[in-house]
Amino acid sequence: MSTPVLTAVAWPYANGPRHIGHVSGIGVPSDVFARYQRMAGNRVLMVSGSDEHGTPILVQADKEGLTPRQTADKYHRVIAEDLRGLGVTYDLYTRTTTGNHEQVVQEIFLALYRNGYVVPRTTTGAISPSTGRTLPDRYIEGTCPICGYDGARGDQCDNCGNQLDAAELINPVSRVNGEKPKFIETEHLFLDLPAFTDSLGKWLATRTGWRSNVLNFTRNLVDDMRPRPITRDLDWGVKIPLDGWRDEPLKRFYVWFDAVIGYFSASVEWARRSGEPDAWRQWWNDPEAELVYFMGKDNITFHAQIWPALLLGHNGQGDRGGEPGPYDALNLPTEIASSEFLTMSGSKFSTSRGTVIYLHDFLREFGPDTLRYFISAAGPETQDVDFTWDEFTRRINFELANEWGNLVNRSISMAHKNNGAVPRPQVPRAADEELKALSRQAFETVGENLRRSRFRAGIGEAMRVVSAANKYLSEQEPWKLKDDPERRDTVLHTALQVVSDANTLLTPFLPHSAQKVHEAMGGTGVWAAQPELTDAEDLDVPGRINPILTGDYTGEQARWESMPVEVGRPLAKPSPLFAKLDPKLAETGPEWAPIVQA
Ligand code: MF3
Ligand code: ZN
Repeated sequence: MSTPVLTAVAWPYANGPRHIGHVSGIGVPSDVFARYQRMAGNRVLMVSGSDEHGTPILVQADKEGLTPRQTADKYHRVIAEDLRGLGVTYDLYTRTTTGNHEQVVQEIFLALYRNGYVVPRTTTGAISPSTGRTLPDRYIEGTCPICGYDGARGDQCDNCGNQLDAAELINPVSRVNGEKPKFIETEHLFLDLPAFTDSLGKWLATRTGWRSNVLNFTRNLVDDMRPRPITRDLDWGVKIPLDGWRDEPLKRFYVWFDAVIGYFSASVEWARRSGEPDAWRQWWNDPEAELVYFMGKDNITFHAQIWPALLLGHNGQGDRGGEPGPYDALNLPTEIASSEFLTMSGSKFSTSRGTVIYLHDFLREFGPDTLRYFISAAGPETQDVDFTWDEFTRRINFELANEWGNLVNRSISMAHKNNGAVPRPQVPRAADEELKALSRQAFETVGENLRRSRFRAGIGEAMRVVSAANKYLSEQEPWKLKDDPERRDTVLHTALQVVSDANTLLTPFLPHSAQKVHEAMGGTGVWAAQPELTDAEDLDVPGRINPILTGDYTGEQARWESMPVEVGRPLAKPSPLFAKLDPKLAETGPEWAPIVQA
């Protein structure tokens, strides 16, 4: 049975190139998941895009002396190229500055508004005196009124952990340009979160299978919900489609309001581009669909609380009821796969603190699958992980190269040398049957882990098959079976069958090398498909070019099942699958990201 599976991936800000921290919790896990689901025969729609509005873009634009649009154009392309290089199989990776996104955001907003879930309020807000633009709380710094810590931010104090109000800070200054913020009275639109107390609470109570980090977060979440502003005093963002707001030069939707709607607008854009403008309904209106969201832990609140509230409000399913909006009742998230952070020597990977390893550099030197392996096997799935070159080198050399690369290489080389083709097996022995049974069973155990976004466990189970096959070869010693070619053929056939199975099991994790193994085993055509970057014209703004990632994944051959290797298929001498890393890397790091002694 084929289930519609939406794979919704958090939208990176278009304010700089990606570093490996960005993709370790989001890009790689989501792609492993989507690839597995496709192989298992489900209908996958994988969407994301660049988050191009709001203060993060404005701040970067100011730094570089660019306009916000130039900044977004620059980094959207860089990010899309990075993600292509990593092999993330988006059906659509788009951006929030498209005409389609603007329309969809406005429609969702109007449905919320009509159903009574949006209320205007006058508030005190900080603005930058020099630009008139909103200065978000987290861009204001000062002394904490509670603990006296100097570096407290306007939204919270990292020292004592208390939530703060920027106006309470002692000696507040703008982190953008050092000026003293001005606090003004300003009118904004608020999402009336208290009007979702029952409806959101009831829905959250049904989410018992969520990961514990998400459940901990959502527990008691609805007890104290306050109205939340969804507009800002900015000139960069989606315009507010109401009289009196539409033409205000400094009123826009808050970046998070428009960004979360991106999951839906990107699905609509994908459908429009596919020539079947209603095709998005399979994932959004069918109650059988599964909608799985991938993000870092700092984004849980927007995905487990705000986005569901927006959907309920659009659907007319909040505590005040209402009518479904123009898209009919939209599905709420099924799963929130939130990851922890990848750190380097204890400090969070962040451009501002300087400890970054850019994805681009990484891919250029080590290729995509080594990173995909490392993240899947040792990434920040359930706890923060400190990336070290030592651990990376060890895992690649001892696990990927020694275990998997070696198994592929020696199995194919021996068969090539002795038979030139996949040999014909004779009467199998217990050891042969046992090994083949182990790899067949792994489809169920690895698959179960991947369905539940347990990537470390999944790849661990797949690698167990690899180790068992290496052990089998060491025990059967086919290289000593010169005088018993029948037995040798049987052993080599068994090994090749398990190489084929293990390659299938590893395909979601290591799609680039899986394609190579497929070819080394004499296969032709596309085994694991890859995304493409194209310059597409905006669907609604003629002449505007948007680089997008898309792909045709329907033609790939990989299926989540054991496929019998074909006896007699010619085998060429294989070339090594993974180059071993120089052990010095563990001590020094690469030139472009050297290890700095503390
Ligand atoms: N750009 C945000 C961040 O990097 C994530 C946005 S996810 C979305 O934290 F849901 F809003 F799209
Ligand atoms: Zn404090």
